[in-house]
Amino acid sequence: MLKIITNSLDETRALGEKTGKHLEPGTVLTLTGDLGSGKTTFVQGLAKGLDIPDDYYITSPTYTLINEYPGRYHLFHVDLYRIDNYADLDDIGLYEILSGDGVVAIEWADKLPKNLLAEYLAIHIDILNDESRKISIVAHGLRGENLIKKL
Ligand SMILES: Nc1ncnc2c1ncn2[C@@H]1O[C@H](COP(=O)(O)OP(=O)(O)OP(=O)(O)O)[C@@H](O)[C@H]1O
Ligand SMILES: [Mg+2]
Repeated sequence: MLKIITNSLDETRALGEKTGKHLEPGTVLTLTGDLGSGKTTFVQGLAKGLDIPDDYYITSPTYTLINEYPGRYHLFHVDLYRIDNYADLDDIGLYEILSGDGVVAIEWADKLPKNLLAEYLAIHIDILNDESRKISIVAHGLRGENLIKKL
């Protein structure tokens, strides 16, 4: 496990960017942590690292639940905050994108059925104070392990 303290929004974004640079197609990242902990901020960095043009402004996909951005690989940004049953996951097309070769970043991934994901990179953010966050990254699978070594 990798634990990193960031002391500003920019540092969290930079960590996301570094992660994005080393991502392989088909990688799934789960993002957990309280409201306002920095999940979307991390995904903004991820998008930069994936060479997604700056004119796409990444916000939480509250109503659509999944946003898609073109970059070195496609980035699917999923936010499950408003999901309250597993049937909806199929309706929003989540299973389909998980079987594709885009990068999938899932906020509020704790709402997924247990054991759904075989291989993924788990990112958990704890709020330490107004400006500081503890970001814990755990690899599940070889792809994630290789990525962590580069961070
Ligand atoms: N070290 C830090 N890293 C990231 N964000 C920080 C940090 N310090 C302060 N912040 C602030 O915390 C907030 C993080 O918001 P963000 O939308 O990324 O959170 P979130 O986890 O996606 O929330 P939600 O659960 O509502 O989707 C921003 O207002 C940002 O300015
Ligand atoms: Mg968010």
